[in-house]
Amino acid sequence: MTSISMTVNGKPASGEVEGRTLLVQFLREDLRLTGTHVGCDTSQCGACVVHVNGEAVKACTMFAADADGADVRTIEGMANADGSLGTIQQAFQDHHGLQCGFCTPGMVMSAAALLKDNPKPTEAEIREYLEGNICRCTGYHNIIKAIQAASGQLTAVAAE
Ligand code: FES
Ligand code: FES
Repeated sequence: MTSISMTVNGKPASGEVEGRTLLVQFLREDLRLTGTHVGCDTSQCGACVVHVNGEAVKACTMFAADADGADVRTIEGMANADGSLGTIQQAFQDHHGLQCGFCTPGMVMSAAALLKDNPKPTEAEIREYLEGNICRCTGYHNIIKAIQAASGQLTAVAAE
């Protein structure tokens, strides 16, 4: 077992992990941050996306020990300080960017990473960026709309 510590959603977090413990396991099982989902065992679905030092990472592809000392952000850290939904979360709600919601945490985290680097992405850029996130409900159209809205690019007419 190895002792690790990191910052998760602005707070210190630590624990004892095995070398094989994945970051997603540590977040969900040790820290009980179950908003980060596991939707596959092939690193394809993107339900597990979190930010590690500001970069979007599939938390099922990283060992927890490799995140030792990192600054990690999960979907639980995306709300505003008063607990209300953050901009991207609100846009998903407003534009029906979710159906069952299973993919949503990963979609929101990927969208946040995209908008950080590219605040006004085109529709094609959004679609390309999300190629690592699968929505089994196939709600892609409204997910794209939500991200366009979160980036301030959706007009009232286009939003209808
Ligand atoms: S659980 Fe990580 S990509 Fe599917
Ligand atoms: S909303 Fe159901 S998997 Fe995307």
